[in-house]
Formats: sequence, structure tokens, C-alpha cells
Amino acid sequence: MSKVTFDTVAVLGAGTMGAGIAQVCAQAGSRVVLQDLNEPFVQKGEARIRDFLQKGVDKGKVTAAQRDEVLARITTATDRAAACRGAALVIEAVPEQLALKNGIFRELAEVVAPTCVLASNTSSLSLAKVFAGVAGPQRCIGMHFFNPVPLMALLELVRTDATDQATIAAVTDYGRLLGKEPILVKDSPGFASSRLGVCLGLEAIRMLESGVASAEDIDKAMVLGYGHPMGPLKLTDLVGLDVRLAIADYLAKELDHPGFKAPELMRRMVAEGRLGKKSGQGFYRY
Ligand code: CAA
Repeated sequence: MSKVTFDTVAVLGAGTMGAGIAQVCAQAGSRVVLQDLNEPFVQKGEARIRDFLQKGVDKGKVTAAQRDEVLARITTATDRAAACRGAALVIEAVPEQLALKNGIFRELAEVVAPTCVLASNTSSLSLAKVFAGVAGPQRCIGMHFFNPVPLMALLELVRTDATDQATIAAVTDYGRLLGKEPILVKDSPGFASSRLGVCLGLEAIRMLESGVASAEDIDKAMVLGYGHPMGPLKLTDLVGLDVRLAIADYLAKELDHPGFKAPELMRRMVAEGRLGKKSGQGFYRY
């Protein structure tokens, strides 16, 4: 195995993204602490990783020994500061709320070593704002992973004006070790991925709303006509309508572009708890 750039990694947030990130870091050989606010949350994250690895064993992609090794590298914690103390890299994957993320990084910068790299998995928020007032801004960077993290090849690295070359180089090397292909993007709303991806998803919802075609046929148009692995409505279900709505509202404000205005149907579905795959119902039933 090649040299692990970051031997100890703390992942904050044990949801879909946090669990996936913890898994790929452990697969690369890092010791990982997966942290969330309470025991049920961390246990759910750990179970998600165990299930994914087990499916890998069932499919013949992972051996039982590899599964056990990966799981043995992951510990869980509910105390954020304790989870991060001693980490060489902290990756934050908590909900998309600017004040929450900024508060976490301000607090952590005082706890971790000055050399510890601080990364956010935000999918659209301004990194300059996420890291505002954080001690050592040169070590702060966006590391945007994609769902499902263990299967998706892209890692979008987002640099602020303050991020230094050493941080970019270390995180790029580590991204490759995780089996990802890194791209480097300037800190701008929605980066390279969400700005395009969310635009397509919102337009598909508007088309469904105005009766252009059924959800199945809109998705088929993109899968069979454009070679997308999954249609935009099914993908919105996978990501979560609530997650995409928050991104759309943020981008509509930041980019002042009507294409990012969230459709009424999307707002109604979120208000009714039809959030996609995770709630059992979105544009499709699960
Ligand atoms: N362990 C190991 N390998 C596994 C596995 C597991 N548990 N589960 C699946 N695999 C492997 C499969 O064996 C298969 O490998 P081969 O190609 O070698 O056969 C491969 O992974 C694909 O798996 P499946 O055949 O089961 O699934 P699929 O072909 O239907 O692909 C998918 C599933 C990768 C999710 C695909 O549908 C896809 O790419 N969808 C689009 C996802 C996407 O766009 N994600 C981005 C969302 S946006 C986002 O995340 C950003 C944000 O900030 C919100």
C-alpha cells in the first residue's frame, strides 16, 4: 500500500456522506474517528458502513478479511473535540448550514495541531464563509465527495484565496489514495458539480410539474438519450429533496439566476416529508 498522507482522520457527521467518507478513508489505510452528536447517530453511520462492506463481500468485490480490517480502523465518538484531537485531517460532513459549519471550524482550530488540515464536504456553500475567522486559513479546503461515496470516482477540491499549495498537494495525493480523481475548483457558488447537476434536477422537476412527461420517461430521456447512469429525478431522490432544496435556495440567492428557483412541487414534497430514498418516497417509492 502507498504511504498514507493522513494517518489519522476525523470525520464529523455520520450521515450518508460522513459514513461513506469514513469508509473510503479507512479503506485507504487511515485510522478514522467517525463522530456525531449522539450514540444512535454514530451507530447508524457505522451500520451503514458495515452493510456496504457486507454487500461488497456478497458481490465478491471485497474479502471478509478486508471488511474486518476496514471496520477495525474505524472508531466512533460523540465528543467533537476529543474526536479531532490528534487528527492529521478533519473532514466535516454535517448538515448544510453555514453558521453550524463555521462554528465547528472556529472551535476545532483551537483544539487540533496547527498542521492539521481542515476540510469541508459542503456541496455549494462559500468556503470563504465556512472558514471565516478560523485560525490557519492556509490549511482549509473543500473536499466535496459524491453519493454513494465508495462508488463515485470524483473528488472536487475547492480552494479559497487563502488555501496554500502544500494543502492542495497533500489533499490531492490523499484523494488519489482514496481511489478518487480530484478536480480543483475555485471557491464559487455550487463549484463545478452542484451548479450544473442541481440545475438539471430542478428543470426535470419543473417538467414533471407542468406535465411534459412522467418521472420515469423524463429519467429515461437522460439515461438512454444522454447516457447518464441515472435520471435527474431518481438522482434527486438519492441525494435527498431536502438537501437539493437547500442548495437550490442558496444558489438562487448567490447566483441571482431564475434557473435555480426551486419548483413549488419540490417545496411541497419536502414539507410533506417526501424526501426521496431515505424517507421511502420521493419521485419514486422505495
Ligand atoms: N461494495 C463494492 N462494490 C460495489 C458495492 C459494494 N457494496 N456495490 C456496488 N459495487 C460495485 C458493483 O459491483 C459494480 O462494479 P462493476 O462496475 O465492476 O460491475 C459497481 O459498483 C456499480 O454497482 P451496481 O452495478 O450495483 O450499480 P449501478 O451500475 O446501478 O450504479 C451508481 C450505481 C454508481 C449509483 C450509478 O447509478 C450512478 O453513478 N448514479 C449516479 C450517482 C450520482 O450522480 N451521484 C452524485 C450525486 S450528487 C452528490 O452526491 C453531490 C452532493 O453534494 C449532494
